[in-house]
Amino acid sequence: MNTLIFATNNKHKIDEIRTVIGSTFNIITLTEAGINIDIPEPHDTIEENADEKSTFIYNLTKKDCFGEDTGLEVEVLNGEPGVKSARYAGEGRSSLDNIHKLLQKLDGLSNRNAQFKTIISVIINGKQTQFEGICKGKIIEELRGTDGFGYDPIFIPDGGNKTFAEMTMQEKNVFSHRRKATDKLIEFLLT
Ligand code: IMP
Repeated sequence: MNTLIFATNNKHKIDEIRTVIGSTFNIITLTEAGINIDIPEPHDTIEENADEKSTFIYNLTKKDCFGEDTGLEVEVLNGEPGVKSARYAGEGRSSLDNIHKLLQKLDGLSNRNAQFKTIISVIINGKQTQFEGICKGKIIEELRGTDGFGYDPIFIPDGGNKTFAEMTMQEKNVFSHRRKATDKLIEFLLT
C-alpha cells in the first residue's frame, strides 16, 4: 500500500482525511514519521502555505507527502480571516478568541455569507500538484455545538441546518471543503 506523509499534527484534520481516504492509502502524520517540527506558514495565500508544507516535508524526507492549508473567507469582510484564520485574534490566541473577534466584526451585518477553502498540495515522486475544496455557507450569530474545531461552532454549510460543530465527522464530511479536496487527491492518486 502506498504511504504518504501528511504534513500536519492537527488531529482533527488527520481524522477527517483518514475517514475519507479509508484503507486505500496509508496516511502517516509528522509524529508517526518521526518528525517533530512546526512547519512555518509565512505566506499571504492559502495556496502558497499548502505548497510550503508539502515542499518543506519533501525536502526533509524525499518521500511522497502532502500538506493542507485551510481558511475561512467571509464575503462582507473581503475574504477575511482567510489565510490568517488560525491567528485572527493574534498569535497564540485560541479558536474561541478568533470566533469572538469574527462575531464582533459581523455584529449587526446581515450578509453572513462565507466559505471554507482547503488547498491540498501533494508531492509524488518529486512532482507537486494542488487540489481545492470549497464549502459555502453562513456564519451564525452565536456558537452552537461542541464537536469539530476552529470556526465549526459558527458555520452552517449551505444545504444543512446544523453547524459543523453539531455534526458527527461523517455528517461534516458530506459538506466539507476538506473532504472535497481529499476526493480530488484520491482520484489523482488512483489514476
Ligand atoms: P490551518 O490550515 O492549520 O492554517 O488552519 C487555519 C485555521 O482555520 C485553523 O486554526 C482553524 O481555526 C480554522 N479551520 C481550518 N479548517 C477548519 C474546519 O474544517 N472547520 C473550522 N475551522 C477550520
